[in-house]
Amino acid sequence: MDTKEFRRHAHAVADWIADYMEGVERFPVRAQVRPGEIASQLAVAPPAQGEPMETILADFESIVLPGVTHWQHPSFFAYFPANSSPPSVLAEMLTAALGANCMLWQTSPAATEMETRVLDWLRQLAGLPEGLHGVIQDSASSATLCAILTARERATGWQANEEGLGATPRLAVYCSAEAHSSIEKDVKVAGLGRKQLRAIPVDERFAMRPGALEAAIAADRAAGIVPACVVATLGTTGVGAFDPLRAIGEVCRREGVFLHVDAAWAGSAAILPDQRGWLDGVEYADSLVFNPHKWLFTNFDCSAHFVRNPAELVRTLEILPAYLQTRERSEVIDYRDWSVPLGRRFRALKLWFVMRSYGAEGLRARVEAHIALAQELEQWMAMEPDFELVAPRSLALINFRYHPAGMDEGAALDRLNETLLDRLNSSGRLYLTQNRVNGAFAIRISIGQTWTERRHVKAAWDEIRSTAQSLEAR
Ligand SMILES: Cc1ncc(COP(=O)(O)O)c(C=O)c1O
Repeated sequence: MDTKEFRRHAHAVADWIADYMEGVERFPVRAQVRPGEIASQLAVAPPAQGEPMETILADFESIVLPGVTHWQHPSFFAYFPANSSPPSVLAEMLTAALGANCMLWQTSPAATEMETRVLDWLRQLAGLPEGLHGVIQDSASSATLCAILTARERATGWQANEEGLGATPRLAVYCSAEAHSSIEKDVKVAGLGRKQLRAIPVDERFAMRPGALEAAIAADRAAGIVPACVVATLGTTGVGAFDPLRAIGEVCRREGVFLHVDAAWAGSAAILPDQRGWLDGVEYADSLVFNPHKWLFTNFDCSAHFVRNPAELVRTLEILPAYLQTRERSEVIDYRDWSVPLGRRFRALKLWFVMRSYGAEGLRARVEAHIALAQELEQWMAMEPDFELVAPRSLALINFRYHPAGMDEGAALDRLNETLLDRLNSSGRLYLTQNRVNGAFAIRISIGQTWTERRHVKAAWDEIRSTAQSLEAR
């Protein structure tokens, strides 16, 4: 394809994207295809000759689109959002065009210096203390892996990297029983062993019990195991619970244990000064992650990872073959040493576009509006005797279930809610996900998609109620 042809198609694609943003509501939210349906339409061998772009784009519409779950649909209430926005998409287009590998300052000075600056903007916006240094990771999972690796090295006097884990004492990692599965995966990847992850019990609000954390640390020390890292969660995936950071931080300080904070979803709400009480104690954190790619209108992937002592992170991950050495190394940041992969995309650009385009006020207004919508939905639910919240609303996340009068707790009630969820998602009009709260099946509704307005939440609630009533009538 020459640039003349590229220009023609690029204009068409830009138009397609704008139409998609305007018309995404036309699509079913969750793809309504069966397993294998898309694969059966894809050629089993690669084409021998190049095909016209018209044909490829036509196939994109006819084959790919039906198999897409539309995360940018305003009635997407599943999981947590993975937001996009027009300024973010523009930046992604430019990033793709530049195609830069931002592993070293020298390979992309603008990307490096912008990454440092926009993460400091984000730190200020989220009310995080000075002295935290930011880096963009591809995911919260990766940021937490980096934290656990740093904690591992600190706890072994940097011997695990040198000698391997066989030569060091056993290490333990602590998180709440409600923490995200990525912590367990990271503990396994770090070579610590899944059995060395302690799931600390939670209280009635699903938050880690600091007393239980302290007891677990003491038990490990008594058994000759070295406590290496505590991961506190601000905004758990299931119910959005907040671990008590100050109390946990005090334990970590006393015990000399590395404290990492996973605020993957809720961290974006820290841009609202009246919502960030749960950051109290953040000065104890050695590192913290949150995902602008969840709830800050910035395309996946963009995880903001803040570290108190970058030298420890760099010492953990640094490799320096001759071919990566540069003359200005001592004067600049080479972000390759701040994350596991060497190669890095120019991810700061989209954050810069988003923050400049919306401004702090625009970002706050949008996140605030999502929380207000969840509050309103919570009130509507409270007025319906057959619906109940199964955990307190957290920011813009609600866990609820349909519980008709006279129906006891148990498997039949779980099945009723499972059927309700399945009907709702099969309708294509909205998309919600399931959860287990205190062992019972719950439906999870997470508000935060860029285009979601009150009418979408109202329509979702009407759909939930009428579908539930139709189940009962059968
Ligand atoms: C609390 C929490 N931590 C970590 C993650 C993992 O995020 P990522 O997909 O960026 O690794 C999630 C994902 O939803 C999450 O909710």
